[in-house]
Amino acid sequence: MAHSYPEPPVGRHPGWPSRPGPLKVPAGVVALRSVRLRDGSDWSAIRTRDERHLSPWEPTMPGGWIRRNAATEWPGRWLQLRSAGRRGVALPFAVTLDGRFVGHVMVGNVLREPLLSAYVGYWVDSTVTGGGVITAAVALAVDHCFGPVGLHRLEATVRPENGASIRVLEKLGFRQEGLFRRYLDIDGAWRDHYCYALTADELLPGGLAGRLVAEGRASRA
Ligand SMILES: CC(C)(COP(=O)(O)OP(=O)(O)OC[C@H]1O[C@@H](n2cnc3c(N)ncnc32)[C@H](O)[C@@H]1OP(=O)(O)O)[C@@H](O)C(=O)NCCC(=O)NCCS
Repeated sequence: MAHSYPEPPVGRHPGWPSRPGPLKVPAGVVALRSVRLRDGSDWSAIRTRDERHLSPWEPTMPGGWIRRNAATEWPGRWLQLRSAGRRGVALPFAVTLDGRFVGHVMVGNVLREPLLSAYVGYWVDSTVTGGGVITAAVALAVDHCFGPVGLHRLEATVRPENGASIRVLEKLGFRQEGLFRRYLDIDGAWRDHYCYALTADELLPGGLAGRLVAEGRASRA
């Protein structure tokens, strides 16, 4: 399939801000939207309660988990994310379940021509895991990136020990491309990561959301 690689309009990030979705999965209705200043209390409550669920998979935080995830940290973090979205180097999505903030899908390090690539990272509240939330959220983000944003390649890196995250990527058809040695400082040490990737030309008509619907994993909400 031939692809055109559009230049982003000057000073604008194609496809941002935006609201891809929703999709209905066993846990409820999943949608994406841009992060908001008022997400701070939910963001902090989930992340401080979920240190044991999240910290084995996230970059080591100088200053300590509790301090770096306090509600007072959010306004500064949100300003950085909003700026990155506006500059076209990231798409910082909040994940909502039945309208409630439950996690984050981050499309970061957006590189335009000639690569048209980015990475995708994600986490979700431990109380809603296993219900298809992040699989649906990543599907919506990928379709959006290969659609209005005009990207060609998305990468995700994951520790070999992270069975749930590997399962998410494999359900969505990401291919394992290799092992990055001592790639990220996580939980106090440099950890190996598998690199998974997907390119726009691998998507079937209907995209990943269509794939989840066809497999009976999701329905259009
Ligand atoms: C990884 C994570 C985002 C998955 O979110 P989720 O909403 O639970 O994902 P889904 O429900 O869409 O899919 C999870 C799949 O993994 C499976 N799974 C769960 N634990 C697993 C494990 N230890 N080994 C293998 N598969 C596992 C689930 O059964 C499900 O597959 P299924 O639909 O075939 O049953 C969530 O567990 C999380 O936030 N983890 C901590 C942060 C993190 O790891 N982020 C990613 C860093 S690369």
